[in-house]
Amino acid sequence: MTTTAAILVEGLTKRFGGLQALDGIDLEVHRGEFFGLLGPNGAGKTTLISVLAGLCRPDKGRARVMGHDVRTEYRNARRMLGVVPQEIVFDPFFSVRETLVIQSGYFGLRHNDAWIDEILEHLGLASKADANMRSLSGGMKRRVLVAQALVHRPPVIILDEPTAGVDVELRQSLWAFIRRLNQDGHTIVLTTHYLEEAEALCGRIAMMKGGRVIALDTTANLVGLMRDRVLVRITLAGGALPEAFAARRVSSEGSSHVLRLGDPCEVEPLLAQIRESGGRIAELSVMQPDLEEVFVQTMRGTLGSAEPT
Ligand SMILES: Nc1ncnc2c1ncn2[C@@H]1O[C@H](COP(=O)(O)OP(=O)(O)OP(=O)(O)O)[C@@H](O)[C@H]1O
Ligand SMILES: [Mg+2]
Repeated sequence: MTTTAAILVEGLTKRFGGLQALDGIDLEVHRGEFFGLLGPNGAGKTTLISVLAGLCRPDKGRARVMGHDVRTEYRNARRMLGVVPQEIVFDPFFSVRETLVIQSGYFGLRHNDAWIDEILEHLGLASKADANMRSLSGGMKRRVLVAQALVHRPPVIILDEPTAGVDVELRQSLWAFIRRLNQDGHTIVLTTHYLEEAEALCGRIAMMKGGRVIALDTTANLVGLMRDRVLVRITLAGGALPEAFAARRVSSEGSSHVLRLGDPCEVEPLLAQIRESGGRIAELSVMQPDLEEVFVQTMRGTLGSAEPT
């Protein structure tokens, strides 16, 4: 692909005192992607985003937004980017609309009212347009942060945990709106701890840990890594787990066991052996592997480890 990447990060490092927050990040987000940036607390996600937004100076490496270097071409790079920050910060003296008009002013936009109205409408903020920022609930303030990131119609939008503390209704309308922006050509980068959200929305995902990217692939490929690992939860009302399946046990709690099978067909011999040994099954459920399972195993470093045979 010869078109400029939406985001290009090369050899980025950042140290805070004795802590290596970014430890050599290379990452490319293509134009038009819906990209997920996942990782446990402290992985370096927000630090990476701060570098992209020009708020944090890296020790080494380079970062570009739509081809503009975030340091040497700061203003152009910043104009290309809308960031919904993780922390709620706002000026308590202004109304919602004033906040958005002022934000537009930072980008030299004077006649932005039609777009501001559209954003307010889509984020369910229209009725709060004249309310003072101070008077808004936490979730409403977060909606304003999303609105602020969008005032200058940036081609690249980064959302750093936008749905923390947000109710179900906004979550759904927010995702419908962000999806539409993505369909209109905006590149979206999403950080979230809600892995089912990431699985449903993101085409590609990078997983970070300790300031490094430790997994990067399409969501389909990542989830596909687990496709042959069927997890079965079985609760016995009597009898014991057949000897032949003891090695498959992932965890046990009393008479309830989680087994990892190599193949869904193995459920049959499992049930047959329990029956033959006089055991009874109180409950049985088959769990589909999902992104959460992939995430947990990637973080533990057990994803590529030996399969049970
Ligand atoms: N300004 C700072 N000064 C000192 N340490 C910092 C600073 N900013 C971040 N850190 C440290 O850098 C590491 C990475 O933090 P960062 O906020 O990037 O993590 P994160 O992946 O966004 O985590 P979370 O999921 O909790 O938001 C953490 O150990 C954090 O304490
Ligand atoms: Mg963070």
